[in-house]
Amino acid sequence: PRPIEELSIWDDAKAMLKKARAEGIQTVHDRLDRQTPHCKFCELGTTCRNCTMGPCRVSEKNPLGVCGADADVIVARNFGRFVAGGAAGHSDHGRDLIEVLEAIVEGETSDYKITEENKLRAIAGEVGIKTDGRPTMDVARDVMECFFADFGSRKKEVSFLSRVPKVRKDKWAGLKMIPRGVDREIAEMMHRTHMGCDNDAPNTMIHAARTALADGWGGSMIGTELSDVIFGVPTPKMSTANLGVIKADKVNLLVHGHNPVVSEMILAAARDPELLARAKELGATGINVAGLCCTGNELLMRQGIPMAGNHLMTELAIITGAVEAIVVDYQCIMPSLVQVSGCYHTKFIDTANKARFSGAIHFDFQPKTAMKQAREIVSIAVEAFAQRDAGRVDIPCEPVEIMTGFSNEAVTAALGGSLDPLVQAIAAGDIRGAVGIVGCNNPKIKQDSLNVKLAEELIKKDILVLVTGCVTTAAGKAGLLVPDAIEKAGPGLKKVCGALGIPPVLHYGSCVDNARILQLCAALANALNVDISDLPVGASSPEWYSEKAAAIGLYAVASGIYTHLGHPPNILGSETVTNLAVSGLEDLVGATFFIEGDMVKAADMFDERIKTKRKALGLSE
Ligand code: SF4
Ligand code: FE2
Repeated sequence: PRPIEELSIWDDAKAMLKKARAEGIQTVHDRLDRQTPHCKFCELGTTCRNCTMGPCRVSEKNPLGVCGADADVIVARNFGRFVAGGAAGHSDHGRDLIEVLEAIVEGETSDYKITEENKLRAIAGEVGIKTDGRPTMDVARDVMECFFADFGSRKKEVSFLSRVPKVRKDKWAGLKMIPRGVDREIAEMMHRTHMGCDNDAPNTMIHAARTALADGWGGSMIGTELSDVIFGVPTPKMSTANLGVIKADKVNLLVHGHNPVVSEMILAAARDPELLARAKELGATGINVAGLCCTGNELLMRQGIPMAGNHLMTELAIITGAVEAIVVDYQCIMPSLVQVSGCYHTKFIDTANKARFSGAIHFDFQPKTAMKQAREIVSIAVEAFAQRDAGRVDIPCEPVEIMTGFSNEAVTAALGGSLDPLVQAIAAGDIRGAVGIVGCNNPKIKQDSLNVKLAEELIKKDILVLVTGCVTTAAGKAGLLVPDAIEKAGPGLKKVCGALGIPPVLHYGSCVDNARILQLCAALANALNVDISDLPVGASSPEWYSEKAAAIGLYAVASGIYTHLGHPPNILGSETVTNLAVSGLEDLVGATFFIEGDMVKAADMFDERIKTKRKALGLSE
């Protein structure tokens, strides 16, 4: 096995990895070692399993599959399906929010409600629904119908393209890249990649971009906006992060997954006085709900709950021995968590029929019965406290402070009601540009080494950093999400953030909340009357692993945002596809991917790009 020192930059992770090894508990790192080296064909993307004349593996020696598909076709098809998987994940999550809105509108639930009437009316206006003098529920019903229709086949474009600058939309129209319907683009990707359909790699890649755009400007954006409507628009607040947020004297309940529909109810139920009294009866001082991954981000942004960790901390959180229950919804939940839970008194509870885990306690969580079910779940956690083995508890550190809650609404409010001061700070060169660092951990990369390093390098160059997803906890643990972090920033960023009392790295939410960054870029482009690709901005996912991250990367590029990946997707087996990704897309959509494992170099690449874009806008470098 690789030495623990090489697996993570964090002391809390390393302490728990030692404990895991001492207790004979397998982790993701052990399994990676056993899977290495990986199949070279799969790494290059040159395996195809799309029919039973195969499976086929193509190479120089043997360049065609049984059907005659070459490496370009096979790589493009595999990448297209990979992106479709990611777009499906985010978008089905978005659909679940529409279904909660439907339950509210139909009067089927009183556990959820419309918390932000103003936001509901604002987005209704943006998608062309009349709001004047109409009762909220009527507006909500139309919004629900409109968003459901965004998933279908009858529209020429998804509704939130109303936010996209016209020049960008024209570009997409010329390329046949306008996302028409979320499910439609995903289904068409599956169709195109069936044997005997789209056998032109660039054409497949264009549709992959269209599918990704349906995610970013469709499914994800709907997910974010409706989550705000139902659970509240995030506002700046303080919280804490790392394994130290798990408390030895409390019932610890971790929420993991992506959708706030379950975790918000769990948090509300955990405040129930009866459950609290029972917890005290069993000797706990309270019930502590802490977050993992993106559902953690959702609750962190809106409710300020503490963050126990990101992707590679999920197994390790249980290994503290102090977690009574881990409650999951879907996406990025390692199935191994059931086994790790089984090594302790930890109850593993799944809540979605579409994401069940063998060996878990299952709840078919529904809007109608949400609060009742949430109470039952919290009660299971409380009762588990009695089974905790105090001798196996080890909480390795004290939590660090973080600031969170930077929605576009909150940022605009902090700026005094409009984005003008931000535009001015960019024009003056105090903020030279902005980069969103997003996504995951990957056990192939020393945990958070790249996520943190890139953020540090960028802020030094007066480049504002926005973080979402698992990069949040990384930046937080590194001390970058507090106002004091301006000391690590360049002079311009230090001045602007210092005056506003905000960190130079802003927490912008969960992975679906990358839609907030898209919206911000569109708003800035509209304010300057330019295309998104003209802005001094970029995106990065240094330690990405998932299909969803590929979809995010591709919608960023297709939206005109220069996008960095810390390691390549499985496309290197096709020169055509690789060249398109890292250079050819520039001519088509005004941005490309770049792949770089060295974060100093990656930051320099962003710096060069930002200089070029600033110059073209007539600004100082
Ligand atoms: Fe092989 Fe073509 Fe079938 Fe793929 S679609 S498995 S390349 S025969
Ligand atoms: Fe996520």
